[in-house]
Amino acid sequence: MRIVTTIAQWVVRLTGMTLVALGLLFWAGRALGLVPLHMAIGAAFVLALLALVGAAAAAGLRPAFVALAAGYGLVIPVFGMVQTRLWPGPDHWIVQLLHLGIGIGGMILALRLASHVREHPRTPGRPGVAAASRAPLSSGNEYS
Ligand code: HEM
Repeated sequence: MRIVTTIAQWVVRLTGMTLVALGLLFWAGRALGLVPLHMAIGAAFVLALLALVGAAAAAGLRPAFVALAAGYGLVIPVFGMVQTRLWPGPDHWIVQLLHLGIGIGGMILALRLASHVREHPRTPGRPGVAAASRAPLSSGNEYS
């Protein structure tokens, strides 16, 4: 699960930074031909975020938080796809800012999920049993 977490976290970092960079170009009215690329990279971002949700669920994250995080992961592409039609006019910048905020929220969520997985390692071969929770049951003198 650790390798999945590391890869997904890097995908979130790299795609997240690329999305913000492309988005800032769009904001400046440039490179608008790259919007489909931005959307495709956004899809990779969301898939990596959902992989982290799965890893955190396997690491024992509470089901309510798993559902919230997965729901948030789905809001990102839905909002991204409808945002151009939301609140048209001079105040559309509020929708654009919201899209950026939701995206950055996704990056922060991904980091929190990855730290949850690292803080709750599972014992190999014993699914569902955290290494830390096994420690008090061990003899404490395994190498003697
Ligand atoms: C599947 C996910 C995503 C989709 C479908 C999507 C879609 C879009 C679209 C269609 C635009 C162009 C809007 C316009 O022409 O006015 C845009 C712009 C932008 N996107 Fe995304 N996006 C996604 C994810 C993200 C993420 C995760 C971030 C940040 C981490 C981000 C940051 C931005 C920024 C800063 C802009 C420019 C401002 C704006 O128009 O909102 N996007 N996005």
